[in-house]
Amino acid sequence: MDKMSTKTYSAALKLVKESDSRFINGASDRKEHGAMTEKDKTYQNKWWKNAVIYQIYPRSFADSNGDGIGDLKGIISKLDYLETLGIDAVWLSPVCKSPQDDNGYDISDYQDIDPMFGTLQDMETLIKEAEKHHIRIIMDLVLNHSSDEHPWFQEAKKSKENPYHDYYVWRDGTEGTLPNDMRAAFGGPAWEWVPEIQQYYFHQFSVKQPDLNWENPKLRREIYDMINWWIGKGVGGFRLDVIDQIAKEPDRGITGNGPRLHEFLRELSKETFQKADLVTVGEAWGADTELAKLYSNPDNSELSMVFQFEHICLDQVPGKEKWDLAPLPFPKLKEVFDRWQTSLYEKGWNSLFWNNHDLPRIVSRWGNDEKYRVESAKMLAILLHGLQGTPYIYQGEELGMTNIQYEIEDYRDIETLNLYRERLEKGYDKEEILRSIHAKGRDNARTPMQWDDGENAGFTTGKPWIKINPNYKEINAAEQIEDENSIFKCYQKLIRLRKEYPVFVDGEFRMLCKEDEAVFAYTREDKDFRLLVICNFYDRTTANPLKKPEDSGKLLISNYKDTDRTGILRPYEARMYLMDKGNAT
Ligand code: GLC
Ligand code: CA
Repeated sequence: MDKMSTKTYSAALKLVKESDSRFINGASDRKEHGAMTEKDKTYQNKWWKNAVIYQIYPRSFADSNGDGIGDLKGIISKLDYLETLGIDAVWLSPVCKSPQDDNGYDISDYQDIDPMFGTLQDMETLIKEAEKHHIRIIMDLVLNHSSDEHPWFQEAKKSKENPYHDYYVWRDGTEGTLPNDMRAAFGGPAWEWVPEIQQYYFHQFSVKQPDLNWENPKLRREIYDMINWWIGKGVGGFRLDVIDQIAKEPDRGITGNGPRLHEFLRELSKETFQKADLVTVGEAWGADTELAKLYSNPDNSELSMVFQFEHICLDQVPGKEKWDLAPLPFPKLKEVFDRWQTSLYEKGWNSLFWNNHDLPRIVSRWGNDEKYRVESAKMLAILLHGLQGTPYIYQGEELGMTNIQYEIEDYRDIETLNLYRERLEKGYDKEEILRSIHAKGRDNARTPMQWDDGENAGFTTGKPWIKINPNYKEINAAEQIEDENSIFKCYQKLIRLRKEYPVFVDGEFRMLCKEDEAVFAYTREDKDFRLLVICNFYDRTTANPLKKPEDSGKLLISNYKDTDRTGILRPYEARMYLMDKGNAT
């Protein structure tokens, strides 16, 4: 490789910042976090309603010390990049002390940072430095389970009389006869035998993630104290991991949406979140629109918003696993978005996302990661960012990063590795299992961030903990922040537009052309403006089903350079128009 011609990420960023001072200045006009006015306190004006949240998976974001694992100092070094993108908050996947059985979703100390990521002091620095860049830090709270190496569990398993015993979910039994046939999400039974005390403990995820017992008020109190301690450190909010599973009742086979769930959430919120101006987002795989209204009730009794997956799980056939591949149903996608947008209007608040650390890359899923990678990535962004809710961008999504296809030795994710073993034992063909992993495996989203076209994509100077996607030479941040037509620039513009026009926040949604088999089109409307979004979801030209495209208003953004107003939509073409209704005084 020619070292001299390699443009480094930081040099490129400097160029962007110089040419883009309007935006940087604009950003610094934003309010400081502490300054909450009376107006801000009302639901209507909550800061997180026009915010855009960026998710960082710390081990794959940026490595500052060459050990091949991303860390807090690495994140601090990229705050300029995040400010340039324009995001308001970072959701940080877990960085607390953890044996890393499930990459940090197994916490052994909720009030310390894992040495792999840095120190508590680094965390404090990150919060402060981020604030200077007008970015809030959202912590990932894993409250359904802890690590089996957490001191609570170490105590709990000593004896049935131990004061911590009841922090977890235990059942008497005899070795080899499980309390019931419930299964863990990462494979195997949901029960694990502890011979010393002749009891089983319950775990919905791995054996090293014992479920916490929310029925115990002492445990709940400890959790609230811990959360308040983090609030005191100045975090901007919390993402609550698998929160719909905390009120489990294993004797009745109940995991999600247990009878006491919303009672627990209301207590949690009252004892912690309501004391500050925070954003709180609950991961809820089992939420429907009615449950979502409870979680995100505008009376602020539970959480700010819900993070639900109905638009993601469309291809999941009842009774089958996510690994059993099925075609993606476009009509269902339209129906699901329509229903969520309409049901939650003025009654709740939703997250808008295509990706996270558990999901395959969207451009490889609904888009086209080869010929139309750029067009389809932008189309998916334009579609999502026009909707009502708070948009989330998962690291690398703003670059159009794609899935990877590794051999099994290169995978690291516990879910993927367990699946591979289990299916091999069941007699599945190796190639078939790999096909499922290539399509759905969580490591698709966990390959390191592609900063530039230099060694290891600028992610680390050492050996990355997981292989880098070989396409980093073409797909990387350094190249895109300089290119006016990049996917990065499209995201940056969408974020700015959201801040400019209140219709993005409050406009009422209406789905258009419901029956069209290739086009997703909708409007958002308030008293002053009408936003119109039209997207062709496929790689072939299609007719624009809107009657008079020339009446659409001003073109705000599109994904083709020469967007005209004809009735033809090119492959993955997306257009967003704004019409001024002429009511302004
Ligand atoms: C959530 C997380 C996932 C984790 C699981 C168990 O679904 O997003 O990464 O494995 O919870 O904590
Ligand atoms: Ca490191």
